[in-house]
Amino acid sequence: MENNSVMAEFANHTPEELVAEILRLKDELKKSDSNYKNAGKAFDMEKDKLKNIFEAIQDGIYIVNRECDIEYVNPVLEKQFGPYQGHKCYAYFHGRDEVCPWCKNEDVHAGKTVQWEWTSAAGTTFDLLDTPLKNQDGTISKLELFRDISDRKKIEDELKKSHDDLADRTQELSTTLDHLKKTQNQLVDSEKMASLGRLVAGFAHELNTPIGVAIGSASMLQRKAKQVSVLMDQEEVDVDELLATLKSIDKGSVLILSNLERAANLVTSFKRTAVDQTSDEARVFHVHQVLNDTINTLSNRFKKTDIVIQMDCPDNIKVKSLPGALDQIITNLLMNSFTHGFNEGQNAGIIQINIQLLDGEQLHLEYSDNGKGIASENLEKIFEPFFTTHRAHGGSGLGMYICYNLVTTQLHGTLTCESIVSEGVVFKIDYPIEIQK
Ligand SMILES: Nc1ncnc2c1ncn2[C@@H]1O[C@H](COP(=O)(O)OP(=O)(O)O)[C@@H](O)[C@H]1O
Ligand SMILES: [Mg+2]
Repeated sequence: MENNSVMAEFANHTPEELVAEILRLKDELKKSDSNYKNAGKAFDMEKDKLKNIFEAIQDGIYIVNRECDIEYVNPVLEKQFGPYQGHKCYAYFHGRDEVCPWCKNEDVHAGKTVQWEWTSAAGTTFDLLDTPLKNQDGTISKLELFRDISDRKKIEDELKKSHDDLADRTQELSTTLDHLKKTQNQLVDSEKMASLGRLVAGFAHELNTPIGVAIGSASMLQRKAKQVSVLMDQEEVDVDELLATLKSIDKGSVLILSNLERAANLVTSFKRTAVDQTSDEARVFHVHQVLNDTINTLSNRFKKTDIVIQMDCPDNIKVKSLPGALDQIITNLLMNSFTHGFNEGQNAGIIQINIQLLDGEQLHLEYSDNGKGIASENLEKIFEPFFTTHRAHGGSGLGMYICYNLVTTQLHGTLTCESIVSEGVVFKIDYPIEIQK
């Protein structure tokens, strides 16, 4: 039928027209043939380009169909897992003979993109990205991108390990620090006890003299009393001798009395100082008296030297504060002047303690000595616990630290130190007090 209609069409044309039509058709055929060839070339070029990309890419790429048949594996991946032709993906990658229970194929075929992590039998860890790939015939394959993250993983693991190590070390350090703090507190306590020990020793030494004198005088009195009774028993009483003996009895009594008074005063000031040192109770006291007691209990230390302690303190300053803290501070400052300021044969010097009341119920205490002074590089360290220039001679380095703590935490005040080498030191202490009328 169709041929007939073509023939009918030809019959309507002249042979010239037909020849012209044939030539036109031939020309057109030639043209479309070259178009076809060009399209094929372009297609081949695109294919090559794609292939080159797949081969040049550093990540692994593979394509698998729904039946788990591998359709393509790029060279990077093939280098690691071997030739892929004719393999199922579960056998090729996982050495299994059936579908893997963790297979993502179904999700991908349902149109999802899945990202997951997998470590191969050889120990390489991959970040995997599965995406659906639409084929020309309408079926869907899975395109999987393999990115080797072993190095990153290794760094991450190392980082985690060093983080864990760091956490362990921090924990260890904080335990050590706690331990050190405890030890430090114990040392501070034992330094306080040592200061109490010094107080007791000083006190015992001080008591020795008046009690010794009193005992000596008492035994002298005993002898004189016996002499009196002998004199009285004589037929003729020697009045002159009797009077002389009674005079020396009187002298001896005065001596006993004054020495016992001195001992009693010492006991009183010792009692106050010891109680103050061992308790941190606030009580009402005369600043002048506490300072006197403190200086008294240490005076045996200074007795054999030419060190003079001068105190300038109004004797009517009555306050409610912590006498124990004040006593400890002055004791430590005096001991330091004695040990550090005037040591090494320098036996003369002046220690000056000035007390003033400032506006707003503030006590201002200035303590100075004219000893060796403190080198400028040490000046900022003297309040640090354990800083001492006397370690070899048994210095604990806690005296100044205790002073600093007492002033700042117990008395809520401030403490500063200035010094010029060879000229001495000046400590300035200010703290609030409750003045009592
Ligand atoms: N009056 C002072 N004169 C000179 N140096 C002093 C004086 N007071 C303190 N220092 C210095 O401060 C340091 C710390 O004193 P301290 O804490 O009492 O410790 P320690 O007396 O056990 O050495 C001393 O070792 C000394 O170098
Ligand atoms: Mg000291």
